[in-house]
Amino acid sequence: MDAIIRPVKTEDESEIFRLYKKVAKTPGGIARFEHEITEEYIKNNLEKSLNNGVSFVVEDPSKHFLIAEIHASRPFPEVFHHILSDLTIVVDPDFQGEGIGKKLFTSFLEHIENQKQDILRVELIARESNTKAIHFYEKLGFNIEGRFENRIYTGEDNFEADIPMAWFNTNYRLS
Ligand SMILES: CC(C)(COP(=O)(O)OP(=O)(O)OC[C@H]1O[C@@H](n2cnc3c(N)ncnc32)[C@H](O)[C@@H]1OP(=O)(O)O)[C@@H](O)C(=O)NCCC(=O)NCCS
Repeated sequence: MDAIIRPVKTEDESEIFRLYKKVAKTPGGIARFEHEITEEYIKNNLEKSLNNGVSFVVEDPSKHFLIAEIHASRPFPEVFHHILSDLTIVVDPDFQGEGIGKKLFTSFLEHIENQKQDILRVELIARESNTKAIHFYEKLGFNIEGRFENRIYTGEDNFEADIPMAWFNTNYRLS
């Protein structure tokens, strides 16, 4: 499908909310339950991306709904201003495995290489069992940097590790 990749807009808020609710229904992906996807959570992410980060969406060709979203933002303290953190990517479950996530993430990283030369490092965390996502990030150039043991509660007194990963911008220039 000829989906459209474009920067996020304020008006996307309700569609992003719908998309995240749908994605969160499938356990094992994003680190939030469906009831934790609130309007406030979505609004907060959107504001951080627009004011101090990067976010792109994938729109269906008819422009009626969103199929995917990626966002990350700079942590507040100045010592972290060369970093994009708090990264989440979601693709509508009805459209997963069609190459949309790869196209979206590639556009996001190209944007950083070409337009965000003040960003040296992009970081994310993926739960260990989400091997699909971890392999996906490795193919995009992310490296595994360690292991946060027992960081994710999986229910019934069980935990799993969270895997920190990072990608480096080869076009980084100290401004
Ligand atoms: C992870 C996610 C963003 C990937 O997006 P996608 O559009 O489904 O992925 P793509 O079709 O672009 O495929 C990207 C890579 O993922 C892997 N992949 C895709 N579907 C897969 C599947 N069903 N099983 C295993 N690997 C798969 C492949 O390695 C593929 O790369 P390749 O085609 O070059 O070999 C998407 O599945 C998603 O939103 N999952 C739920 C939310 C989530 O887990 N977010 C990440 C939280 S850390």
